[in-house]
Amino acid sequence: MTKDNKLLTVEGLQATYNHAITALHGVTLSLERGEILAILGANGAGKTTMLKAVSNLLSAERGQVLAGHVQFDGRDVTRETPASLVRLGLVQVLEGRHCFKTLTVEENLVSGGLGRSATRAEIAVDLEKIYTHFPRLKEKRRVLSGLTSGGEQQMTAIGRALMSRPRLLVLDEPSMGLAPLVVQDIFRTLERLNRDEGLSILVAEQNSAVALTYANRAVILENGVSVLSGTAAELKSRDDVRAFYLGQKPAAPVAAHIH
Ligand SMILES: Nc1ncnc2c1ncn2[C@@H]1O[C@H](COP(=O)(O)OP(=O)(O)OP(=O)(O)O)[C@@H](O)[C@H]1O
Ligand SMILES: [Mg+2]
Repeated sequence: MTKDNKLLTVEGLQATYNHAITALHGVTLSLERGEILAILGANGAGKTTMLKAVSNLLSAERGQVLAGHVQFDGRDVTRETPASLVRLGLVQVLEGRHCFKTLTVEENLVSGGLGRSATRAEIAVDLEKIYTHFPRLKEKRRVLSGLTSGGEQQMTAIGRALMSRPRLLVLDEPSMGLAPLVVQDIFRTLERLNRDEGLSILVAEQNSAVALTYANRAVILENGVSVLSGTAAELKSRDDVRAFYLGQKPAAPVAAHIH
């Protein structure tokens, strides 16, 4: 356990794929307990790579951490398996709403609780909690996930992650491909989980407007480097952030102004 309030720290992280493509050149950030931290950045900025490094999933993609370190609750994540990180409370919802399409919504949710050897009664309690957060999933509980909408599949993927009782929930572009109202619905639920249950959240988003509405703080990645961080309010008030990330007028990326 760490003495300070940091739940996650990433320092000087560099990562490559196939010992060739350098995806991260130097990423430094930290997330405090109880906070929602957004990672913003354009296509290919390194958001997914950074999140995979956090869950020690890079080696599964022929990726390697070259330098720097990632600590979750004081532990070096490279010394843990992805499964043990889940048991420690670090749970990731991967990009693209991964759920088992041939299982029902409820079977998908239950599968999320299997890793922690919960009793039937505990699983039933957790399921009800998830249905309170996502009432639409209760309506669709008996429907095959493959037949539900994109929004419902994203909710199922998040619900499945919640079944392993995370302390830090990591989400990779939960808004991708979803209608604005569904995106609002999902982010409001995340905000409620954060406020009511103290769940810490790390979320990568290309949808900067939504991310800066719900996050406490944000970090901007450009070409594999963390170039700027601050509170959501600070970032929203910067002209360069407004121009490049909130689409208010065409401009160069933030790094062009800093250097
Ligand atoms: N499995 C992989 N093998 C090789 N290169 C990869 C792999 N995944 C990502 N990359 C490269 O690493 C860099 C960072 O990509 P990454 O997917 O982390 O960015 P991103 O910010 O998540 O982008 P997006 O918004 O498109 O999801 C890119 O240059 C990308 O082409
Ligand atoms: Mg990505």
